[in-house]
Amino acid sequence: MKKEFPKNFLWGAATSAYQVEGAALLDGKKASQQDVINAQSYEEKGFATADIASDHYHHYKEDVALMKEMGFTSYRFSIAWSRVFPDGTGEVNEKGIQFYRNLIDELLKNKIEPIVTLYHYDLPWTLVEKYNGWVDRQVVADFENYARYIINEFKNKVKYWTTINEQSIIVQYWTQKCYIPKELQNKNQLRYQINHHMNLAHAVACKLVHELVPNGLVGAALGYAPVYPLTSKPEDVMAALNAHDLRNSYYLDIYFKGEYTKSALIYLEKHGLAPIIEAGDMELIKEGYSDFLALNYYASECAKACPKNSDKELRYSGVNLSGKKGEISGFETHPGFYEMCKNPNLDTTDWDWAIDPIGMEYIFRDIYTRYNKPLMITENGLGAFDELTKDGKIHDSYRIDYLREHIAAMYRAIDYGVEILAYCPWSALDLLSTSNGVKKRYGFIYVNRTDDDPKECERIRKDSFYWYQKVIRTNGAELT
Ligand code: BG6
Repeated sequence: MKKEFPKNFLWGAATSAYQVEGAALLDGKKASQQDVINAQSYEEKGFATADIASDHYHHYKEDVALMKEMGFTSYRFSIAWSRVFPDGTGEVNEKGIQFYRNLIDELLKNKIEPIVTLYHYDLPWTLVEKYNGWVDRQVVADFENYARYIINEFKNKVKYWTTINEQSIIVQYWTQKCYIPKELQNKNQLRYQINHHMNLAHAVACKLVHELVPNGLVGAALGYAPVYPLTSKPEDVMAALNAHDLRNSYYLDIYFKGEYTKSALIYLEKHGLAPIIEAGDMELIKEGYSDFLALNYYASECAKACPKNSDKELRYSGVNLSGKKGEISGFETHPGFYEMCKNPNLDTTDWDWAIDPIGMEYIFRDIYTRYNKPLMITENGLGAFDELTKDGKIHDSYRIDYLREHIAAMYRAIDYGVEILAYCPWSALDLLSTSNGVKKRYGFIYVNRTDDDPKECERIRKDSFYWYQKVIRTNGAELT
């Protein structure tokens, strides 16, 4: 029997502002921390800058038309704070906000539901210069000012809001996702302090949506991976539980219970890593409750025991910069608590991300059982070296295989009663990767450019474009 998804299920895809828009310093926009970070990584590693990215700023009408052609009923994207408030606060940049008015109107004209993310790694650079950005509590007040303006502006057009993208990933890869001055980079407590400020900002945004948007729904977009134990040895199972508490529940409990997971907080306190929590913070966090959770799921993770007396030191997740399997630079390690490791049972992408559709079914079941809130996928996808072949096409059957298995897993979760609102895989079109330039591609739409040469950023439909079109047309019944 063919299995269709629920009647009003939202099909679409996702992007983020700095990874797709370009026009980094155009029409009044000033730099964000990502413009600076990516300019540095171009110098050091040869990955593209964010200056032009996929030039969506100039191609947005064409891009929305292609989304419509695929049959999208939703599109998840983010707003660049520094396009609207070039200095983070102060005067609104009229041309900047006009871009988002145009984009949202274009989506609505095409019956595509906008799912708006308020913050996706791109803090205005002025705020980094002023007070080191997210390190300082002042950022919460400045975020509130920005969020209030945006939510007010679009309150009658946007129903679904996501607040901060991937706090858990920011803790792991903080220098990639935030600009952290060299002299602060050895202060690991700041990772959790930044996260605490983001929890406050998230709560503020949730409250604003509840206050201002009629029928509005709001939640965080969380990078989330189930953690499996390497073996069934009790010490590995315990390590996996520890990792789960610190990497997953530590965020979910804030969003849905308004509190930090005890075991994780105790671990952080014992090691001088816990955030400073001021009077009133936890009350604010409780008041800023979430209506749903947006999940960014790419891979599952694996953990093993790491005895306290081992010679290992605290470290955070490594990254694979080459795209050659096995060249990941290391795994997160908390001596005495857990050590992350490769799962020998799963194949990986070229960047060492474990491919695990069942992991997605697992998290849907697990999160829904524990928190009983609707879920949506705001990222899921396969980063790959796509080839533009002589026939002018992109035969990305590997991406189709990946997505097919994940959609089937999502269906199984729905079949077991999980409420899932939307599927917005990464990414609508090729864009600038957060860690690997533009060579690592995710889109249904190929953007013809290289790291060194933006060319014309011509759009070309990949094989996955036509496949996804059929999936959407049949409401998920036809996955072949
Ligand atoms: C998510 C981010 O972590 O993963 C996206 O929200 C990012 O911004 C995506 O692009 C894929 O990661 P990467 O490093 O391959 O770009």
